[in-house]
Amino acid sequence: MVEISLAPDGTVFECAEGDTILRAALRAGLGMAYSCNVGSCGNCRFEVIEGSVTHLREDPPAWSERDLKRNRFLGCQASPNGPCKIKFRADPKFAVMPHPTRRSGRLVSAVPITHDITEFTFEMSGNDMFHPGQYALISVEGIAGGRPYSFSNLPGTGQWQFQIRRVPGGALTGHLFDAAQPGDTLDFDGPYGTAYLDTECPRDIVLMAGGSGLSPMVSIARGAVAAGLLEDRKMHIFYGCRTQADLFDPALLTGLHPAITLTTVLSEPDPAWTGPGGFVHDIVRDAMGEGLKDHEIYFAGPAVMSAAIQKMAHEAGTPMRQLHFDEFY
Ligand SMILES: Cc1cc2nc3c(=O)[nH]c(=O)nc-3n(C[C@H](O)[C@H](O)[C@H](O)COP(=O)(O)OP(=O)(O)OC[C@H]3O[C@@H](n4cnc5c(N)ncnc54)[C@H](O)[C@@H]3O)c2cc1C
Ligand code: FES
Repeated sequence: MVEISLAPDGTVFECAEGDTILRAALRAGLGMAYSCNVGSCGNCRFEVIEGSVTHLREDPPAWSERDLKRNRFLGCQASPNGPCKIKFRADPKFAVMPHPTRRSGRLVSAVPITHDITEFTFEMSGNDMFHPGQYALISVEGIAGGRPYSFSNLPGTGQWQFQIRRVPGGALTGHLFDAAQPGDTLDFDGPYGTAYLDTECPRDIVLMAGGSGLSPMVSIARGAVAAGLLEDRKMHIFYGCRTQADLFDPALLTGLHPAITLTTVLSEPDPAWTGPGGFVHDIVRDAMGEGLKDHEIYFAGPAVMSAAIQKMAHEAGTPMRQLHFDEFY
């Protein structure tokens, strides 16, 4: 264990060998800002005052020469080389309970949802609690860096489920789809993420997902039903994908509760398609109109989709506090 002290107030926390500053801070209950956990968003940037750190991921996308000159590093990638004094502004909203821990999971089943998305189910060791909308890092020996995957099920079953899209040539998805067998044990770290279902909020809900962003929306929809939220409000779900080949059985969502509506939007439909075409954010703007700003909005998917949704929601007058998202990289 290495001791990390936080300037200026002198708070001390410990970082295990091979762990990162961000994950150690969150394990200790300190609210260090973050989103992606893979070095791509830059939200976890912090300053080293004394000591030194090494990035686990060589050349992470959100880090530059300018950061190096200012002694700034990415918390999700920085591992301490010895005791350090560092500086970041803690925000309690990131210290979500339960705090993340490392544990193992045994692959139980892999059930296809679409031609390239499969729901993987793992039997977990230890506490399986998380909030619908959160994610865990999955690591496989021989593949550098854990990859984040969002839960698709609900906690309390002893199992963690993830709907995962195969990425052509991808290291971790290649292993999961082509090599992993029921009974295999994988390493997990979590839960992470702040874009989770708010069960206290009284507003109607809009969920938007693109491609592999389906997984957290399924968990949030399941969580809203389980918490009884849909007894007195509506949930509008919008799913964007490319062609008819990407469609899934709508009952996965509409079968959860009569208050759920699902609109699927294809960006490159075959001529036979009679549903909406184009981009999800345009369809949501047209379908929800002025009323959008009165909804609690959750979304997940590629960074470009996320940026378009944020702009559209902002132009529609939606307060930032009603938007919940983690970008996918
Ligand atoms: C918050 C979040 C939630 C996500 N949830 C889902 C989900 O529910 N379902 C789903 O299908 N996908 C999800 N993703 C995407 C997923 O994590 C992977 O990017 C994707 O599966 C490709 O992984 P791969 O190893 O197959 O591909 P690769 O091309 O081998 O790797 C791609 C990604 O892995 C990361 N990476 C690469 N090298 C390293 C390294 N050395 N250290 C750390 N990271 C590295 C980078 O983010 C890169 O974009 C999520 C991403 C984020 C950020
Ligand atoms: S770069 Fe560290 S959380 Fe995104």
